[in-house]
Parts: sequence; C-alpha cells; structure tokens
Amino acid sequence: MKPRDRLRIAMQKSGRLTEPALELLNRCGLSFRQSRDKLFCFGEGEPVDLLLVRDDDIPGLIAQGVCDLGIVGRNVLNEFKGIAGDGGAALTEWRSLGFGRCRLSVAVPHDMAYNAPTDLSGLRIATSYPGLLGAWLRENSVDASVITLAGSVEIAPKLGTADVICDLVQSGGTLVANQLRETDVLLQSEAVLAGPQSLPTDERGDMVELLLKRLDGVIQVRESRLLLLQTSRTTLDAVTRLLPGGPQPTLLPVAGQPDQLMLQALCAGEVSWRQLEEIKKAGAREMFVLPVEKMLA
Ligand code: PRP
Ligand code: ZN
Repeated sequence: MKPRDRLRIAMQKSGRLTEPALELLNRCGLSFRQSRDKLFCFGEGEPVDLLLVRDDDIPGLIAQGVCDLGIVGRNVLNEFKGIAGDGGAALTEWRSLGFGRCRLSVAVPHDMAYNAPTDLSGLRIATSYPGLLGAWLRENSVDASVITLAGSVEIAPKLGTADVICDLVQSGGTLVANQLRETDVLLQSEAVLAGPQSLPTDERGDMVELLLKRLDGVIQVRESRLLLLQTSRTTLDAVTRLLPGGPQPTLLPVAGQPDQLMLQALCAGEVSWRQLEEIKKAGAREMFVLPVEKMLA
C-alpha cells in the first residue's frame, strides 16, 4: 500500500453515530469539505480526512490499514474482534466517547417464562452479533442455534423465524413495540475511537497524539460545569460540603459586603435542580451553572 501522510478516520456514513461524531471532530478543531453524500471528505486545516462507510466495515478498514482510526460502536468493534481472530486482536479502544450509549441484550417474548440463560437451550436466537452471542452462550454453557440476520431482528419471533432475539437496546422502545422483554445484558456499548494497538510512527502518529489530547479536553469540558454562587462566611462550610465533586472551589470577596463571598467551583458532571435547591437551602444565593467551552490544563 502507498504510504500516506494524512490521517484517515472512518466513521458511519448515516446513522445514529454520524451527527455526534462529526460534532465531536469539529470541536477538536477538525472541519471537512462538505461532501456528505460521497465516501471521502477532505480535511481543511489539519491533515485529517474522513471516510464515510457502513459502521460494520469500520474495524476491517482499520485492520487492513486503509484507515488509521475509526469512530464506531463498541458492539461493532468487539463483534469484529471476536470473529476476526488475529486481525481483530490488533485493534483497541483508544477512547470511549460518551455518546451512542446502548446495550446488546437478549430479549424474549413477554409471555415466555425465563429464569436463567439455560432456559435458552434448544431455542433459535436471531441476532446481527453472532460472535458476541456465541461467546456468551459458550460462557453460560447454553446450546442454542444462532440465526444471523442483517437487520429487523426484532420481528423474527413474530415471523416465527426465531424464538428469541439478541439485539441492541437503547430506549427499549423497539422491544416494547414488539412485545419483547429484555432478560440479559451481554455488553454495555457506546461510541469509541478505535485504532491499531500501535500507532503509526510517522507524522500521522503525531497527529493522532494531538487529536487524543484535544479529545480529552473536549470530553472533559463536555462533562464540566462552572458553578457560581454567593454565600456568607457563616454558611460557607455548609455550602461547600454540598458541592458536587471537583477541584477546590475559588473564593472571591464581594465589594462592599465583607461578610459575603463569591464562590466559583468547577464540577465534574451535570448539576441538577435538586442539588441547586439543597445548596440554596444551606445558605447560597445568586447561583449560576455555566457550561464550559474550552479547557487547557
Ligand atoms: C437498533 C436496534 C433496535 C433499535 C433499538 O436499530 O437494532 O432495532 O435500534 O433502539 P430502541 O431501544 O431505542 O428502540 P437501528 O435503529 O440502529 O437500525 P438497524 O437495526 O437497522 O441497524
Ligand atoms: Zn448497523
């Protein structure tokens, strides 16, 4: 294969991960020439291009060296690792990205009796994840037949082509609509940045390291909130005890009010109304929760 000097990232062409993945890359300072209906998007500014493909093809493209990195669901990555043998072992999760959360679960018709995985013995299980399901069945010593379907797995029991299913569940709406009941979770999944265990040793490797640092900043910021409030010195301890986790808060004097302090705290994660109300009860007032846009430690 011809050596490349530009980094190439594979991502889902159209689907649940597409928009959030593009937004994440944009936040990392990457922008691409608009050609969303095409396979290839040229990166402007940084030497990073995009390949828009079917999500199931992403691990293979990385394993073959056609792409350096991929944004893909852990479910797809692990399924590939499970069935690709040595080729799959070379792939790893460089970062989990915090979106596209779902789980791979077994679900049975709502009126079917079910107590343990062994109840699946002798049944037909429809799935698009034969590798992950097969491994789970072996772990649980269940002898069932796996029926591999590319899609529409959830209607297999109704059509009589399978007895139960093993499919992705996000809201659970699909299961409810098909009178199915979730029984076992095989895998908790979310979008991940996948790549080879060892990064390229040329400029592309440097670019990956830069990208990882920016990603860490973006992910940290996305989950951070700046909490601002006023409190009197007498209620300071009570207020501080209720603050969500994070580094030590900063205290500032309030002009003309020697008893008052302005408190500024960086919180890791969302601050709920309930938490705010508790903090207010402890003596805080003038409270603000602000999103953090950029952070460089
Ligand atoms: C997945 C999965 C279920 C549905 C679950 O399909 O196969 O059908 O999402 O989501 P829910 O719990 O929120 O209802 P997807 O929409 O990704 O399409 P696909 O099955 O064609 O890949
Ligand atoms: Zn899919």
